[in-house]
Amino acid sequence: MCGITACVGEDDVVDTVLTGLKNLEYRGYDSAGIATLNGHGVRVHKREGGIDPLSSEVDHVEFAGQLGLGHTRWSTHGAPTDENAHPHTDCTGTVAVVHNGIIENYAELRSELAAAGHLFTSETDTEVVPHLIEDELAAGYDPEAAFRRAIARIEGSYAIAVLVDGTDAIFATRQGSPLVLGVDGKRRFLASDVPSFLEYTSRVVYLDDGDFVRLTPGEHVITDITGSPQNRPIETVEWGSEDAERDGYDHYMLKEIHEQPEALRRAINGRITDDNRVDLEEFPPGSFDDVDEVHFISCGTSHHASMYACQLLRDRGIPAHAFTAGEYATTPAPVTDGTLVVAVTQSGETADTLTSMRDVKARNARTLAVTNVVGSTAAREADDALFIRAGPEIGVAATKTFSSQVIVLALLVERLTEDITGEPSAEREGLLSALRVLPDQVERVLRESTAASLASQYADADGRFFIGRGVAFPVACEGALKFKEITYEHAEGFAAGELKHGPLALVTPQTPVLAVFSGRHDTKTLNNVEEVRSRGAPVIGIAAETANHVESTVDVFLPIPETHPELSGVLANVQLQLVSYYVADLLDRSIDKPRNLAKSVTVE
Ligand code: F6R
Repeated sequence: MCGITACVGEDDVVDTVLTGLKNLEYRGYDSAGIATLNGHGVRVHKREGGIDPLSSEVDHVEFAGQLGLGHTRWSTHGAPTDENAHPHTDCTGTVAVVHNGIIENYAELRSELAAAGHLFTSETDTEVVPHLIEDELAAGYDPEAAFRRAIARIEGSYAIAVLVDGTDAIFATRQGSPLVLGVDGKRRFLASDVPSFLEYTSRVVYLDDGDFVRLTPGEHVITDITGSPQNRPIETVEWGSEDAERDGYDHYMLKEIHEQPEALRRAINGRITDDNRVDLEEFPPGSFDDVDEVHFISCGTSHHASMYACQLLRDRGIPAHAFTAGEYATTPAPVTDGTLVVAVTQSGETADTLTSMRDVKARNARTLAVTNVVGSTAAREADDALFIRAGPEIGVAATKTFSSQVIVLALLVERLTEDITGEPSAEREGLLSALRVLPDQVERVLRESTAASLASQYADADGRFFIGRGVAFPVACEGALKFKEITYEHAEGFAAGELKHGPLALVTPQTPVLAVFSGRHDTKTLNNVEEVRSRGAPVIGIAAETANHVESTVDVFLPIPETHPELSGVLANVQLQLVSYYVADLLDRSIDKPRNLAKSVTVE
């Protein structure tokens, strides 16, 4: 959670730091701040709210400097106030610190420091860090040594960057929270995520947990806590800055919804052979011969993609379970030598997922990360990684990454099935043929959807129920999650058969029901639709354009092109994304940055 950014160079870095922050705003927008270092010492400006008000208040003359760092916050300890905004400083105002993560032993450190006379001005865990550094400086250590000694005292997860008056360097470290370095001539960048500096450079260095880095103009030196050099290569990321821009769309979310055809083409590119076999470079045939059961661990939208994949595996006779990662971390399921644990995480940095993955690795299970971010913690810590190739997703609500996850997981399911059962699944031929044309079909849905016209009709309701069976069930859950996330209106997703076991009591003419039909078990779902219609609820049906029986039963019909039933959920989900988007737009919600949320949840 939170975004940190930093830059050192030979010219003034104020604009660069503010731009870096703006590019990271999706990680948190409760408060923001900047610190620079120039001949007049450390300058700090911070405030509650997003980056725009901060930028308009920063005095560029006073703040001009060649070293700067910035922070955009998603609150964990302390309310979103000016005082709790980062950077935090020590008693002398010579040390400025930005932090992403949680310092678990901050309470005891804070009492110790307060007892020794340090004055605290915020409620944050972070503020102990500048005071610890202050003590080490007072004890005679140089700034770099003082930084290391302070870090040695803290426990928890963190990415931390520090400015200390009297040096020409920025010091930083990471442990359990992301931090990546950018290299551009004499300039060096640091950030929680690559899009922060992507418009300046695509040359990056992924730091590992335990790395310490010293940035000066034209140089970065990476060491461990003892000062021993660490060799980390400079890599080139394939995303361009244009991938992270809005391109004329009103919101990133709408842009990313429209990027799905391209994202899906990338996801399958080179992964399906001419004779309809799955060809995953990372996993040649036989890679999963020893597997007999699959556990998926993930959160939120990624959990819905995992539920989807779980259905496909079970349909092929392979035991599979989809666990929410937060629960898996606290109530771990038994694993054996034959268990493959698949961590599905767009960002690759979600704390709940990483904790579960680490725990299960410690229990000797084989792990595989399915992620969008090359160089992410999940990709690096899992035994293997499979990339969904969706490109950067800036909108906090996941859209294109869900579709790409489902598609890549469907390919993985075919590889697993063939390895585990010794033969291709009965669905392989039809599924892979359908996958080839799926991107064009998504394009058609985007072109022809009438979801926008429903917004005014359904924005005002007591609640909405999303229902589906088989692969349409996770899509119903995802549709409801997206709806509540960006409209702030109540919505719930249910397995179609479950409504009558309780929630039906809530169904009235003021609770529209969105029913997703996959092309399998549709008659049963139609029975459930009749149950809600007889209670007066209006029904919006999402089904294949040829499903006349559905069209003639529901009040509003959102058609999708005919496809393999196991892929219909991807097309239906695009219609649901558009419904949520247009309702949220009508209600004038903060679509790209919904309240209380952040893109990457790096706390448990
Ligand atoms: C919802 C959403 C979240 C994420 C969840 C997991 O739109 O974006 O529910 O899906 O926080 O994030 P990742 O996939 O990065 O692990």
